[in-house]
Amino acid sequence: MKGRVVLVTGANGGLGTYVTQAFLDAGATVVGTSRKIQQSDFKHSNFTAVPAEISTLEGARVLTRQVVSLFGKLDVLAHTVGGFAGGQSIVDTDDATFQRMFDLNLNSVFHILRATIPPLRQTRNGRIIAIGSRAALEPNAGMSTYSASKAAMVSLLKTVALENNDAGLTANVLLPGTMDTPANRKAIPNADVSKWVQPATVAELVVWLASDAGKDVNGSVIPVYGKDA
Ligand SMILES: NC(=O)c1ccc[n+]([C@@H]2O[C@H](COP(=O)([O-])OP(=O)(O)OC[C@H]3O[C@@H](n4cnc5c(N)ncnc54)[C@H](OP(=O)(O)O)[C@@H]3O)[C@@H](O)[C@H]2O)c1
Repeated sequence: MKGRVVLVTGANGGLGTYVTQAFLDAGATVVGTSRKIQQSDFKHSNFTAVPAEISTLEGARVLTRQVVSLFGKLDVLAHTVGGFAGGQSIVDTDDATFQRMFDLNLNSVFHILRATIPPLRQTRNGRIIAIGSRAALEPNAGMSTYSASKAAMVSLLKTVALENNDAGLTANVLLPGTMDTPANRKAIPNADVSKWVQPATVAELVVWLASDAGKDVNGSVIPVYGKDA
């Protein structure tokens, strides 16, 4: 990955931390973004923190312009921003929850795609890897807005793959099951964590898809379900 410029969204999150570190370990130049990201989050000379709010198109565009002006190009977008809400039936789900799930899981990806696809096309070898969820394909009771927002996101990514094949740009989406993150350990204290997906495994797959070896994988929706498959 040496010489490749990678933008990781959600870089300080449970998964994004691993994705950022994996790209740094692979020799990439990494811009990590989130609202609260700090330069001190990764002690590596190839890491640059650029705080941004990507729930608006303008925020995503400002961020992308910053990356290109700092490093001259953008080769890879690894989009991990997302979030979960659940526990209520559709009847009991309020507008605010619906809006929050679609802002976090769908609108953010729509904005960052619109902002980054032009520079990614220019490299003629660009990569987009986005993190969906198993729930996109397998909705559970009480998770309607999460599942629906992730399903719509999968649809967007497949469209990106179709629209940008001509420029050597690939777009793929990974669907993890429950991951072994600090937030999940806190939220579900009695779970059998041995069944959870390791974020490091997901991160390695993200880096592989971004590498030269991954160039023929496009428009894929990849389950990463661990021992619960
Ligand atoms: N955890 C799981 O078990 C699991 C399972 C399946 C799928 N997933 C999916 O995997 C992805 C990563 O999950 P995770 O557990 O790592 O989530 P997480 O720890 O909550 O991280 C979310 C990240 O997104 C950033 N973020 C949130 N809103 C933002 C905004 N408006 N603009 C910019 N950055 C924003 C957060 O940082 P700031 O607060 O600093 O902005 C944080 O870095 C998500 O898409 C999630 O849906 C997770």
